Amino acid sequence: MVDYEPAEHYDRVTRAWALLMGDDLHYGVFDAPSDPLAEASDRLTSLMIEVGGLTEAGPEGTDGAPLRVLDVGCGTGGPASRLVRDHGVDLLGITPSAVGIEAATARFAAAGLPGSFEQRDGTDNGLPDASFDRVWVLEASHLMPDREALISEASRVLRPGGRLVLCDIIRRREIGFRELRERREEFAVLRAGFGAARMDPLDLYAAHAEKHGLKVLTQRDISEETRPTFAAWRANAEQHRDAVLELIGPDELDVFVRSLEILERLWDDRTLGYGIFAAEKVG
Ligand SMILES: C[S@@+](CC[C@H](N)C(=O)[O-])C[C@H]1O[C@@H](n2cnc3c(N)ncnc32)[C@H](O)[C@@H]1O
Repeated sequence: MVDYEPAEHYDRVTRAWALLMGDDLHYGVFDAPSDPLAEASDRLTSLMIEVGGLTEAGPEGTDGAPLRVLDVGCGTGGPASRLVRDHGVDLLGITPSAVGIEAATARFAAAGLPGSFEQRDGTDNGLPDASFDRVWVLEASHLMPDREALISEASRVLRPGGRLVLCDIIRRREIGFRELRERREEFAVLRAGFGAARMDPLDLYAAHAEKHGLKVLTQRDISEETRPTFAAWRANAEQHRDAVLELIGPDELDVFVRSLEILERLWDDRTLGYGIFAAEKVG
């Protein structure tokens, strides 16, 4: 049993977040602010599929076998189910959250999809060297404080020519000590709402990747396209208020809604944003 804060946090909020965020536990990429959230969330998965070189449906892996994909921070298996259904990959999803594993396993069983889910830590995954064609990290890296360990583990388990594909909330500028102190209440609300997290600039992901034998292929800031996500989550909080209250109670719902306002401010003053990144294992 993996036992530390992200697992505990995700175990507690996963069911409520399905109502607030929808089937996928991640941001959306909006063409227009009025796009339905489900469509926008799916568009983020599509972008990951594109930069991860997974667009060819069906077998294309080594020796004619399906691509072997490691989904680090698999949530409840929403994006994973699309990878298996539409792209025929051979999937292993990992997360420290027991609730996530249970939900993802049930989702796959209900849909009759092959794939497995295991409780593991992305920064020390214990999986064999050179055993995957893709390592997929969709909005999970901010929960792993040892970012370099995540990337070195990803590189270790990738076969030569394989790809790491990752997207997440990023830090877009330095936050000085004074500002950190002045905004400490805002950061405390975010921590209460979303768990302990640390955001890094996209350049730091690239630096870790280059250090650990990966060649950067894509590095893109998609902050503007993800900004309407907060309004969509807020609308869900209003629409599903009673059901969410039953799952997490009024205090946690209040923290969630306040977090959205804070995140909008941090997006607008270019402190935080969203990035996508892909790198190839050098052979
Ligand atoms: C925002 S959710 C994203 C879930 C999924 N990728 C999706 O897009 O629907 C973050 C996920 O990261 C997982 N996580 C947190 N810490 C982790 C760690 N050290 N190793 C692997 N996964 C972790 C959480 O349990 C959760 O499943």
